[in-house]
Amino acid sequence: MREPIPSAVRYWVATPMSMTSFSTSLRPEFKEALHEALERYPTPFYAYDLIRIQEQLSRLREHFNEARIFYAAKANPRLGLLRRFRDGGLDLEAASFGEVWRAYHAGFHPRQVLWNGPVKTPEQLQRAKTLGMPMISLDSIAQAQRVAELAPGSQVLLRVNPDLPVHTHPHLATGQGESQFGILPQDLEEALAASQGLEVLGLHLHLGSLLETEDFLQGYALLDELLKDLHLPVIDLGGGFGLGVDLAAVGEAAHALSRRYAAELWIEPGRLLVAQAGVLLTRCWGIKRTRRTYLLLDAGMSALIRPMLYGAVHPVLPLYTSSTWETYDLAGPSCERGDVIARDLRLPQPKEGDALAILEAGAYGSAMSSNYLDQPRPLELLWNGASWEVLRFSQGLEALWEQEP
Ligand SMILES: Cc1ncc(COP(=O)(O)O)c(C=O)c1O
Repeated sequence: MREPIPSAVRYWVATPMSMTSFSTSLRPEFKEALHEALERYPTPFYAYDLIRIQEQLSRLREHFNEARIFYAAKANPRLGLLRRFRDGGLDLEAASFGEVWRAYHAGFHPRQVLWNGPVKTPEQLQRAKTLGMPMISLDSIAQAQRVAELAPGSQVLLRVNPDLPVHTHPHLATGQGESQFGILPQDLEEALAASQGLEVLGLHLHLGSLLETEDFLQGYALLDELLKDLHLPVIDLGGGFGLGVDLAAVGEAAHALSRRYAAELWIEPGRLLVAQAGVLLTRCWGIKRTRRTYLLLDAGMSALIRPMLYGAVHPVLPLYTSSTWETYDLAGPSCERGDVIARDLRLPQPKEGDALAILEAGAYGSAMSSNYLDQPRPLELLWNGASWEVLRFSQGLEALWEQEP
């Protein structure tokens, strides 16, 4: 009997991350455009739906209407997206000096950029001074001392590590006491003292990524305790909004906190804005039967490493039909046993060259891609509602050894 084509087939890897319910469907117009793109461009490539990004931004604005929104560029740093966010009135959260510079290149003013991250070298601080000093989130006491010495007068936040266990993969739980991020509450006084000569705007809390509603509420309660003795003009509540988070509840709690201290509210969403808008298009070039049955794809860990890195779950949408169905593992082209994007997926049997879309790949997909095994980083396209725009061309193979004498 013929099984219906699912709108998206979910799979769970060996250590499933907690699942939340949210829509994984693509907009019909975008899906149609994907078929057209598949006729024009070789796979693998990333494709993003601008309309979906705009919808997510509106949703976020609805629930964080008083907040200053810093887009976390690390989720997807393509200039074509950053410029649009800038034009839409967003600011930018940069997690490295490279991202600071990229933000300036995209037209952000230094006062619109918040520079985050556990390491800021003296050389980077000097270069930032000549380019225009962004605002800085201080991640440690040592960093506070260094910035105070090399860039006095800078506007800074102090990043707090509230030592809070959260519902996410350990790699993503940055606000836990064991992580290398932020300043523990008991060290805050010392960090403030080390920030002499800097303009301390406020505290910064980023608990991790792919969080759940309850994580935010607990984090805000802890921050509330810390803020009682401090009167600072800004509260930055970071990013980490999992796709199933109750934005209304979190937004309400965030506003309540900022109003209590008459502080400006900042947030730093990345994934929420771009994840569902992006797909990775790949084709199947063979079915291989060992003790398991594999579809051999032209995209794998060098294009999308999230499943291998932290067990991320991506729905998979077959863009072909067949009357025969089977259970497959989806393997990439690398000579690595771990290069498996999905396991135990029930799919229609593909013919050679049939295409699949790996969904929810718009965040930390291309951004984390690599050239492992001399595989070029994929082309990236944006559907603007009327046509495809190239956000980044695929690398030529020669570019991969350009820097080698
Ligand atoms: C400090 C900081 N802010 C914001 C983000 C964005 O997180 P997300 O994409 O989960 O919203 C990150 C992600 O690592 C981060 O480290």
